[in-house]
Amino acid sequence: MLLSLSSIVSAASSGLTNSSLTTYVDSASLNFNFDPVKAAYWTGYIHHRRTPFAVSPSGDAAYLAYLDGSGTDVHVQQIDPTTFAATGINVTVSGGKEAGGLVAQDDGFALLTNEAMPTGTTNAPADNTPVPVLYRYSATGAQQWKTWLGGPNVTDSEGHMAATDMNGDLVYSNTTGRYAAYTVVTAYDGDADGHFGDAIRYVEDTTGELVVISGASSDWGCSHNTGIALEAADAAPYASICAEDQGGIWLNSQGQGMSTDGVKISNENTTNGADGEPMGGMSGSYSNLARFQNSDAYIFAWVTRGAINLYENAWMGEGYTNAYNRTNGRNVALATFSDKYTMNEAEASSTVGAASGDSQINWLTTSTTADQSNAHVATFDGSNALVSWEEIADPFCEYIAFGCRGTFTGSYFQLVSTSADANGTAVGEPLVKSDVYVSGDMVTMADGRICWPYVNMDWDLSGVVGWSYTSSNVTSMSFACMSLDATTSSSSSSSTTAASSSAVAVQASTSSVAAQASTSSLAAQASTSSLAAQVSTSSVAEVVAAASSTAAAEQAATTLATSVVAASATRQVSSSSATSTQAVAAATTKATGGHKSGGSSSGSWFGGFGW
Ligand SMILES: *[C@@H]1O[C@H](CO)[C@@H](O)[C@H](O)[C@H]1NC(C)=O
Ligand SMILES: *[C@@H]1O[C@H](CO)[C@@H](O)[C@H](O)[C@H]1NC(C)=O
Ligand SMILES: *[C@@H]1O[C@H](CO)[C@@H](O)[C@H](O)[C@H]1NC(C)=O
Ligand SMILES: *[C@@H]1O[C@H](CO)[C@@H](O)[C@H](O)[C@H]1NC(C)=O
Ligand SMILES: *[C@@H]1O[C@H](CO)[C@@H](O)[C@H](O)[C@H]1NC(C)=O
Ligand SMILES: *[C@@H]1O[C@H](CO)[C@@H](O)[C@H](O)[C@H]1NC(C)=O
Ligand SMILES: *[C@@H]1O[C@H](CO)[C@@H](O)[C@H](O)[C@H]1NC(C)=O
Ligand SMILES: *[C@@H]1O[C@H](CO)[C@@H](O)[C@H](O)[C@H]1NC(C)=O
Repeated sequence: MLLSLSSIVSAASSGLTNSSLTTYVDSASLNFNFDPVKAAYWTGYIHHRRTPFAVSPSGDAAYLAYLDGSGTDVHVQQIDPTTFAATGINVTVSGGKEAGGLVAQDDGFALLTNEAMPTGTTNAPADNTPVPVLYRYSATGAQQWKTWLGGPNVTDSEGHMAATDMNGDLVYSNTTGRYAAYTVVTAYDGDADGHFGDAIRYVEDTTGELVVISGASSDWGCSHNTGIALEAADAAPYASICAEDQGGIWLNSQGQGMSTDGVKISNENTTNGADGEPMGGMSGSYSNLARFQNSDAYIFAWVTRGAINLYENAWMGEGYTNAYNRTNGRNVALATFSDKYTMNEAEASSTVGAASGDSQINWLTTSTTADQSNAHVATFDGSNALVSWEEIADPFCEYIAFGCRGTFTGSYFQLVSTSADANGTAVGEPLVKSDVYVSGDMVTMADGRICWPYVNMDWDLSGVVGWSYTSSNVTSMSFACMSLDATTSSSSSSSTTAASSSAVAVQASTSSVAAQASTSSLAAQASTSSLAAQVSTSSVAEVVAAASSTAAAEQAATTLATSVVAASATRQVSSSSATSTQAVAAATTKATGGHKSGGSSSGSWFGGFGW
């Protein structure tokens, strides 16, 4: 659908409209199968499986990374940044278990994944547990280097690191010539043996050398990191945020940890190591923190249940608080930073006894009934940002501090501006769509549009993977682009014309309904994959271990035993070695006696988390 220029109203003054969005439905054919659904940790709820997307600095080359439908091998497919068709090179990284981050360069790309170490590697983690690794390929698809970010050769003060699930991200700063990868890690020996934390590693682009930078590299930052946000800066440290298991979300560019060296962005209710999947939970830690173009300022979007009734966190000690949640469902919140260390809004309260722990929050939604999830953000320019999220109007939130399920009631796209107020305010109403989602990185294109990949499918947030929902493979990828003003709408119209002259099906969003309706429901298709493949034995045991008392451990074990998810998970446990009873018993032992500090007052997570 082509729009006349006169019909286009400037979005910057009135908000986004249907004509701001262009979709490229099934534009890219994939050479391999892709399963677009990933089961959320603990709950088994339906999450989009992330497909990292990146565009080169010149804007000439784009790449998409996706995990093979078998669950092993990551494929990188070059994408035409105008038509969003598959073009150019495609590379398969054999053994990759997660497409964890992608940076496009003018001369190729870098991919963050995790994979088992080669057979026979001395001091490799047991059971082929994957280890984070960074690959660099040239523009012709030749591998230039491969750098392990964990495993036996990476010195880490807390032990050697693996990453069963590597939720995290990869960014690059052209000014420093270095990548940074921020991932969840699990120690397989040393002080942190068996515990979950996170690590930040810097790598030189030209050589692949792992460089340790004081005040920027981090061996161990946030305990049970449940959400990572990372964005480049002109010098190390890059801007980083973590969500931890003790009650806070921290801007931790300073200190890289979960301490008051950083800035407490938010108080979150935490239970069993979780804090509400603020950055999307499993497969969600991308496009959560974005830098405004040609600026030192950043914007962060997350979802939160709010915080009330602060009380002292005895485990962490004085100055740290626990909170109860204000709402059942989650709302979308924003924080803005004038630079990588400085939040515009007030810091979250750590006042013991405070009735409100969320008064500093700049809310984008304020529902008392709905649940919002999968929040992402990208910037159009120096002051305008696009924030997206998904809504369940009538949610069922059966697990405290995790996600919710229920009928999907729309993807929301909200324009936010910092031009009148540095904190960021919504401009106009959100654009609501039922057939466009965000499931890969939101990228600012050379023409100023923000584009991202998604899978053309019926989206359903009501089921549990492996029980009431079975996912299935797809072999094409769709893209959507949001434009801010008439100039970019005009150029997107011409790209539509160009694309439709090829065999690629490209449709403006207003005419894509029929195409969406004719696709068969993925939910209806049978699948042999089950949650068991998604939930690792160590994750389940670790959640039980995260309980800080016998009672809590028993409660966690009971939750495990009674949940459908746990049924799958324990099948996985029993099929690997220990029986589920043994696994839970071992975890309970660990929970009650495994921590060095023993849970007494002013103890921290096993006596230190990166200081
Ligand atoms: C977009 O189009 C739909 C369907 O025509 C309409 O219901 C909706 O109000 C439009 N949204 C905006 C923001 O114009
Ligand atoms: C990246 O940095 C190099 C100098 O190191 C400079 O020549 C180049 O223009 C920069 N590229 C971009 C896209 O900023
Ligand atoms: C998805 O594709 C993979 C790889 O081709 C295959 O092993 C798997 O069985 C497929 N899953 C389904 C449900 O068809
Ligand atoms: C993928 O690469 C192979 C060669 O390795 C090539 O034959 C094929 O055309 C490529 N496919 C796409 C879609 O680029
Ligand atoms: C670790 O370092 C040793 C000594 O340099 C080397 O022989 C070995 O190949 C390295 N292992 C891995 C997995 O990189
Ligand atoms: C989180 O909130 C729940 C109520 O939803 C409460 O039972 C639990 O104790 C809270 N967690 C903390 C650490 O206060
Ligand atoms: C922006 O944040 C500052 C610091 O918390 C606060 O004083 C100010 O009221 C906020 N402005 C708006 C419009 O929320
Ligand atoms: C707190 O959140 C949980 C789900 O995490 C929910 O069951 C509970 O009702 C919420 N509490 C309030 C006060 O809304």
